[in-house]
Amino acid sequence: MRDFWPYPRWIAHRGAGKLAPENTLAAFRLGASHGYRMFECDVKLSADGVPFLLHDATLDRTSNGQGLAAELNWDELSRLDAGSWHSPAYAGEPLASLESVARFCLDNALALNIEIKPTPGSESLTGTVVANVAARLWTEAPTDAMPPLLSSFQPAALEAARAAQSHLPRALLLDALQTGWLETALRLGCVAVVCKHTQWDAVSVQQAQSAGLKVLSYTVNDAPAADRLWALGTDGIITDRVDLFSSSS
Ligand code: G3P
Ligand code: MG
Repeated sequence: MRDFWPYPRWIAHRGAGKLAPENTLAAFRLGASHGYRMFECDVKLSADGVPFLLHDATLDRTSNGQGLAAELNWDELSRLDAGSWHSPAYAGEPLASLESVARFCLDNALALNIEIKPTPGSESLTGTVVANVAARLWTEAPTDAMPPLLSSFQPAALEAARAAQSHLPRALLLDALQTGWLETALRLGCVAVVCKHTQWDAVSVQQAQSAGLKVLSYTVNDAPAADRLWALGTDGIITDRVDLFSSSS
């Protein structure tokens, strides 16, 4: 399983970084129009258990809603405006369900990195539901479709995803390479470690890759940082700057 790595090197963060309202289908469309073939997005659960895209626990920053998103059913969430906060051109853009972005990706032969971003307190449930829904959606995929890569900062979410759908590849997200990071990734059966880009150096990249793990970085928005990571031999970069970096480089 850890030898399996079909993914592109460049990954568009939250769809198209800051160029469109994050985690919306409009952002995915814009990222794809820049040639990107893999997308990262943040997924949590509505009150009635529907996985949908939102970075924060609350709605306030990126929609016209207020308060904890996890307290509303999907029917209510789906009527919010998740575009006007960004710019008038995106007024009325709705929140995206995981199902809608999965269908967009499958229809266009794009890969998806689903960051499991649980509302605090629902780590295991979110990991279980996201893995089960992703597995169902990709069951209908063409046989050559790239499976969704599930990642999380929360080991409990990755453990639950593994218990629910062990065949879906997982990645451990980290802010920093603290003591025990490699052991944690291996214990969780991950195929990759995704860390804040400034943390990687020759020693840590070698440690991960020697253990059979891919090395990815977030969020890389300038050329010197990207050049450093490719020179280190890392395997993938998550970027906001779909307008700056060519996805084929
Ligand atoms: O998945 C990489 C990156 O998205 C993690 O940080 O806060 O942007 O979700 P954040
Ligand atoms: Mg994220």
